[in-house]
Amino acid sequence: MSATALDATADVRAHYASIRDEATRADRRSSPVYALRCVNNWVKRVAIERNARGARRVLDLCGGRGGDMYKWRDAGATEYVLVDVSREQVDGAAQRWQRDEKRRGAPSARGGAAGALHAATAARRGMRAYFACADAFGPCDALREAIVAAGGGGAASADGAVEPFDVISCQMALHYACNDAGRLANALANVSALLRDGGTFLCSTLDAARVVGLCWPPPSQPPLPGGGVDGAHAAAGDGRYAGRAVHVEFDERDYRLLPPFGARYVISVGERVQACPEYLVHAPTFIAMAQRSGALHLAEAARFDEVCARVLAAEPFGVHAQQWRALVPQRTIATTDGQQTSTSCPQRLEADIDDEQWRVVSLYCMLTFRKQPVPFLARGRA
Ligand SMILES: C[S@@+](CC[C@H](N)C(=O)[O-])C[C@H]1O[C@@H](n2cnc3c(N)ncnc32)[C@H](O)[C@@H]1O
Repeated sequence: MSATALDATADVRAHYASIRDEATRADRRSSPVYALRCVNNWVKRVAIERNARGARRVLDLCGGRGGDMYKWRDAGATEYVLVDVSREQVDGAAQRWQRDEKRRGAPSARGGAAGALHAATAARRGMRAYFACADAFGPCDALREAIVAAGGGGAASADGAVEPFDVISCQMALHYACNDAGRLANALANVSALLRDGGTFLCSTLDAARVVGLCWPPPSQPPLPGGGVDGAHAAAGDGRYAGRAVHVEFDERDYRLLPPFGARYVISVGERVQACPEYLVHAPTFIAMAQRSGALHLAEAARFDEVCARVLAAEPFGVHAQQWRALVPQRTIATTDGQQTSTSCPQRLEADIDDEQWRVVSLYCMLTFRKQPVPFLARGRA
């Protein structure tokens, strides 16, 4: 690994090591970006449920404190392996899982019908979870070893191999692999090596065009709705954006000089993510590399705000729309056009999520890839 890549990984590790878990639900609710986090979680849940059908083994790369492990369990996964480079995050996830399993695994304490129901639900939702500390974008052998050592190698682990996964997920983290081309190539090679033929790679990251548009708004375009601090548009057009929910600052001041890899910015979101270094993900390059080096073919791509609008428009009374209303009961769907989303997303969500947080939602995108089987005659030629 290059010295720059090592530095970048150390920066990220240090950043996530410093983030403490919120003790209570009240702590979480008091966050200034609570609504944003709810919406992001809802989008991930929708994407997971849509892609988990029939998935038995799931690998959650850069899984953090296990924010998605219950989503995978609820979606029917039976073996879940979380990998993260931060020891603190991995330990936090494992402790949370063990604590909740202990709680769930005591149906007799409830007694009667409620206890029986709880036991049946627990059995139906039974999922074994394994937690490994490793660099997801480093050499594949080290990643494999960490997965096997954590017990998550599946049926093949007796030989030190890893049974292929049905789904590999990498949520809100791919931007850490884009500090150089080699890291991203490694990340894709790892996904391809660990995913079964026909399996799904689900990843979310920031949409580079949106992040650049936020920090260098084209002069011919009106500012995105919502503005920054106190409604005033806060982008200075010099690689910086300062809003109430998000601050972004690029190292580079001229967007024309941004390189395809290693375009570094620091971002702060709410009170938890503070000045974390990230790198732009140039989507066309990423998609082409995925196809070329990993036989990973793009099946779907949508920004988070587009996912919201599509799901709520397509199934206004479906289960996801119900979850949405339960999450944010004040929220209604209006059919007004928003400048921000007028071309691809005619419906604007009017809600207790303010414009500034909504703007951050629309910085993220979800990409779904399928691994194409290698034709029989081409096997072993690579
Ligand atoms: C924004 S958090 C996302 C956590 C989780 N995926 C979620 O959506 O809730 C990013 C995570 O990526 C992890 N990460 C960053 N670089 C990594 C790497 N090279 N290998 C493994 N994990 C990494 C960080 O430690 C952090 O936990």
